[in-house]
Amino acid sequence: MLAVGIDIGGTKIAGGLVDEEGRILAQVRVDTPLTVPAIEAAVAQMIAHLSTDRDVRVAGVAAAGFIDRDRSTVYFAPNIAWRDEPLRARLESLTGLDVAIENDANAAGWAEYRFGAGEGRRDVVMLTLGTGVGGAIVVGGELYRGGHGIGAELGHIRLVPGGRLCGCGQQGCLEVYGSGRALGREAAEIADTAPEGLGRALAEARAEKGKLTGAMISGLVLAGDPGAEEALRRIAVAVGQACGSFTAILDPELFIIGGGVSQLGERVLAPMREAYLAATPAAGSRPVADFAIARMVNDAGVIGAADLARRDILGGA
Ligand code: BGC
Ligand code: NA
Ligand code: ZN
Repeated sequence: MLAVGIDIGGTKIAGGLVDEEGRILAQVRVDTPLTVPAIEAAVAQMIAHLSTDRDVRVAGVAAAGFIDRDRSTVYFAPNIAWRDEPLRARLESLTGLDVAIENDANAAGWAEYRFGAGEGRRDVVMLTLGTGVGGAIVVGGELYRGGHGIGAELGHIRLVPGGRLCGCGQQGCLEVYGSGRALGREAAEIADTAPEGLGRALAEARAEKGKLTGAMISGLVLAGDPGAEEALRRIAVAVGQACGSFTAILDPELFIIGGGVSQLGERVLAPMREAYLAATPAAGSRPVADFAIARMVNDAGVIGAADLARRDILGGA
């Protein structure tokens, strides 16, 4: 049975018609509208478009927020204006389909576990490095959701006591040090503090384009610029250190790293692994986790949301 999957991101909403092997048979993409009602209308329209004239009964919607146990209400979202939003009811009444809402990183992690970098493993943790830092935990082949549906918010563990303020209201969260957004901040800081030294290429690129985007920083990393490499190293170290703590709790076989930054491959994984080993209890005298780059970068949320909706609503495998 086919299912629709939707991934609501900060800049784009992606939608796809997904089969039981995790393949996308049709897809659409729109820019994310600015208001909550406009986002909901756009999602409903995408679901209608993808399901018309097809035998589709369920849609899964991945959203960057804290979602309740019934997969229906968004309690809170650090980077979107959702507070106690009955997203599932809204979308069901707009589309007439059964809808399940899922945390975006949970959806991505599930897709990677089932069909991607986690294939063949049973205990994996995924981290998505984007606007925020998302987390997914698969334990013994099951997605871990916690007592209220909102477990695996791995971006919000405290990495730096008394550190920078996070969108969740806490200070010093991993999200503020290890996200794609943090990469931009670190790069800007290097450009500001050492415009004639380490930050020269970053400062020049910023002056030329009037801004410093993730793509520009990645480009400089690929060109071997030491300033951009230093910015990347800082966020990779933050994530690696946090993974040491996640290992103390969960002992996963594998960490899967996703999000735009993950496209830098070994350049991001190498410093991450090193920081991870330095932060892992009893490293050297115990098995540790592997690190892999996510395989389905832009599609994982869509595929995972569709697959989870099919399982949760229809009870299928
Ligand atoms: C949110 C998570 C989300 C992550 C990635 C974080 O700020 O708290 O719910 O999964 O960003 O989008
Ligand atoms: Na999560
Ligand atoms: Zn936080």
